[in-house]
Amino acid sequence: MTGIFSKKSVYAQNQILELDPLAEKLSRNGKKVVKLNRGDPPKFFPTPKYIIDAYVKALRSGATYYSRAQGLPELVEAVVARYKRYSMDLDKDDVIVTAGVSEALLFINNALMNKGDKGLLLAPYYPQYIPRLMIEGGVPLVGNMIMERDWEVDTDSLSRKLKKMGHGRQRIKYMMITNPHNPTGKVFERNALEDLVEIANDNGILLISDEIYDEIVYNGKKFTSLGQVAGDVPHIILNGSSKNFDSTGFRIGFMVIPGEDKVSQSLREKFSQYALVRLSLNTPSQFAVAEAMKNKKEHEKAISQMVSAISKRVNFAVEKLRENPYITVTQPNGAFYIFPKLDMKSLKFKGSKDFVTRALMETGVQLTGGYSFGSPDNFRIAALPPVETLEYAIDKVNEFCIKNAKK
Ligand SMILES: Cc1ncc(COP(=O)(O)O)c(C=O)c1O
Repeated sequence: MTGIFSKKSVYAQNQILELDPLAEKLSRNGKKVVKLNRGDPPKFFPTPKYIIDAYVKALRSGATYYSRAQGLPELVEAVVARYKRYSMDLDKDDVIVTAGVSEALLFINNALMNKGDKGLLLAPYYPQYIPRLMIEGGVPLVGNMIMERDWEVDTDSLSRKLKKMGHGRQRIKYMMITNPHNPTGKVFERNALEDLVEIANDNGILLISDEIYDEIVYNGKKFTSLGQVAGDVPHIILNGSSKNFDSTGFRIGFMVIPGEDKVSQSLREKFSQYALVRLSLNTPSQFAVAEAMKNKKEHEKAISQMVSAISKRVNFAVEKLRENPYITVTQPNGAFYIFPKLDMKSLKFKGSKDFVTRALMETGVQLTGGYSFGSPDNFRIAALPPVETLEYAIDKVNEFCIKNAKK
C-alpha cells in the first residue's frame, strides 16, 4: 500500500539519540562507553524521596483514574502558586498540563502551523523543536546567537532579516527562546529578553519561552522569566517536572498562557480541546508533581543540593576542557550542558558529525554533534555524571583531539 503516509517520517528523529545503536554495539563488544549525550538527571540524581512517596501514595489511594484533561486541579493550583515567584497572577485556565514540554510543542505547532508557515528559532537550538515544527508542515527560520559574545542573540541581523521579509513575516507564527539555554548553558539577562520582546512586538510575533531549567541556575546568575518582561506581548511559557523536579520519566510538562489578547484566548481554547482529545495524563504523576511543588521546604532542600552538585560538575568539566588547545569553551551558568567549539582548521575532522562518531568509536565517549543544534563546529556535553567520570571522559576527548590535530 502506498500513499497512506501523509507526513514524512524522516522528520521524526532525535539526533541526541542518533549514536545510541553504535554505543550499544560497542558496549556489547566489551568497550567502556561513557554517555555524555543525554540530559536525564534522575540517572545521576535519584528523584527526591518525598516526590516518590507522593507518587506511591497516589497509587495506593486509588488515583489510577482519568483526571481532568487540561490538568489535575491540584497540579494546576500548584503551578498557579509557583508563578507568583515571577509576580505573575495566573488564572487556572491559563495553565495547560501536558505530557512533558514535548507534548506542548506538538500542541503549539499543531495549533499554529499551516504548510509553509515559519517558526523562528535561535541557533544553537534544542534539536527537538525542528521535527515538531516540520511534522505540521512548518519551516524553521533561524536567527543566530554569537558564541564570541557569550551567546548573545544577534538582534541587529535578526531585525534586518525580519524587515527584509516585509509582509512575509506574517507567516512567522512564533519565536522560540530557551532560557536557561540548551545547549550553551546561557542564562539570559533581563535586558536581552526585553530586546527580544521589542522585536516580537514590532513584528507581531508570538513569543514562546522554554524555561524547563529555570531553577538550575548557578555561578551567581539570576534567572528572569519571560513573564516578568513580556507585558502585553502575547507569550507562552513552557516548563515541567523533568529537570527542576528531577523526574523526566513522569512525563509532566505545562504551558502558561497568561495574555488577555485574542491570540492568547484562542490558543487557550485550542490547547484545551487538544487536551480533551487525549482524555487525560498520568494521574499519579500529576499528584506527585503537585506535591513536589507544594512542599517548598523539601523542594528547596532537594533543588539546592542538586544545583550545587551540577555547578561543581559543570565548572570542573569546563576547566578540563580548557586544557584542550583545539577547542574554545564558554562558561555555562544554567542547565547542565557545555557547548565547546572545535577549531576545525587545525583538526582532521570533516565536521562535528565525523568528530562525535569517531570519538565514540575510538574513545567510547558519546557526545552530541553541534550540527544537531544548528552550530556545525560545536559539540555538546551533558555534564551530569560525577567528577571522576567527567575527568576520565574529557581526558579521552582531549587526547583524541591532540591525536587528530593537523601537523
Ligand atoms: C530545552 C528543552 N526543552 C524541552 C525538553 C524536553 O522536556 P520534557 O521532558 O518535558 O518533554 C528538553 C529536554 O532535554 C529540553 O532540553
